[in-house]
Amino acid sequence: MYMGRTTLSKFLIEQLRGTTGQSELAALLIDVAAAVKAISAMVGRGALGPGMAFDAARIAQNSSGDTQKPLDVMTNEAMVAHCEWGGLVAGMASEEMEAPYDIPEQYQRGPFLLIFDPLDGSSNIDMNVSVGTIFSVLRHKPKAAPALADYLRAGKEQVAAGYAIYGPSTMLVLSVGKGTHGFTLDREIGNFVLTHPDLKVPEETTEFAINVSNERFWEPPVQRYVSECKAGKTGIRERDFNMRWIASMVADVHRILMRGGVFMYPRATKQPVKPGRLRLMYEANPMAMLIEQAGGAASTGRARILDMKPEELHQRVPIVLGSRQEVERIERYHAEYDAGTDQPYVSPLFNERSLYRPEARA
Ligand code: F6P
Repeated sequence: MYMGRTTLSKFLIEQLRGTTGQSELAALLIDVAAAVKAISAMVGRGALGPGMAFDAARIAQNSSGDTQKPLDVMTNEAMVAHCEWGGLVAGMASEEMEAPYDIPEQYQRGPFLLIFDPLDGSSNIDMNVSVGTIFSVLRHKPKAAPALADYLRAGKEQVAAGYAIYGPSTMLVLSVGKGTHGFTLDREIGNFVLTHPDLKVPEETTEFAINVSNERFWEPPVQRYVSECKAGKTGIRERDFNMRWIASMVADVHRILMRGGVFMYPRATKQPVKPGRLRLMYEANPMAMLIEQAGGAASTGRARILDMKPEELHQRVPIVLGSRQEVERIERYHAEYDAGTDQPYVSPLFNERSLYRPEARA
């Protein structure tokens, strides 16, 4: 029954009452939600829509070096078009654009900077697997044109963050610094309705999410954590763990918000110049705010994500986020490794029961 339920606009008016610039922030988030509805419709057309058509001329690399698909471009255009006109943003930065986007002269500049990844996990789109949009809002001095340095601010300065997940239903999950809340798109009425108020990440978990094919490239503390999870009841964790990897950050983080767990895309030794795969400003910061606001933790393994001062717009960062106790354990493993006080990691190939253990082969 729809009557009496809390719509996104009602929720924002109530949550932001009494905060500086409340009506502008509410209006901006409603513009973002309008973009999300448009993107949801584009994604929902699947192979029937133009976004999936193979068009060699539109296949390019974005500034992060990922292959850019038509749908990446179209969803980026949708975010820009819905948010540039209202006098609410002074500029925008997108994972799909090399440099920040200046608001065209015919529009007024507003008091916020909007930073987004319009279609996260887009490599999944051809397989009809959930993808999402991630966004982050920073305050900006009204009127002045933003310089690059204005965007490079620590995640703890975000005034709002959120994501949309395009799954069997479309959901918008957001925070304005007063908890993390989930809304479901009622497609018949066209409104986001509050369905998951005050989400809380369970402190403990028995689930982890990581791309295990990179195991040999991880640092020892991450290898140690994952091998202990895999050892289950027979190892020091004394309980069995389950592993999930959707390869769409929004979907993996959404699962963690719903039922706990830890998500990792750690530093890998494969490409030392890339200190992780995911981007600080488009992915890590907004997700870290949502997870912390839901009682979880978000870290690089060595530092809190939200304290990091970005050095560049498309900076990559190692990410460990989710249930607080697990994130703290992984941070402890990094600290012990850095101090040289940890147990050396022994690959399961060479453990006691393995045929490959050195004495077994002698
Ligand atoms: O940043 C893009 C992204 O698709 C994330 O959504 C996801 O978590 C990750 O990359 C998957 O990476 P991989 O293909 O290495 O598992």
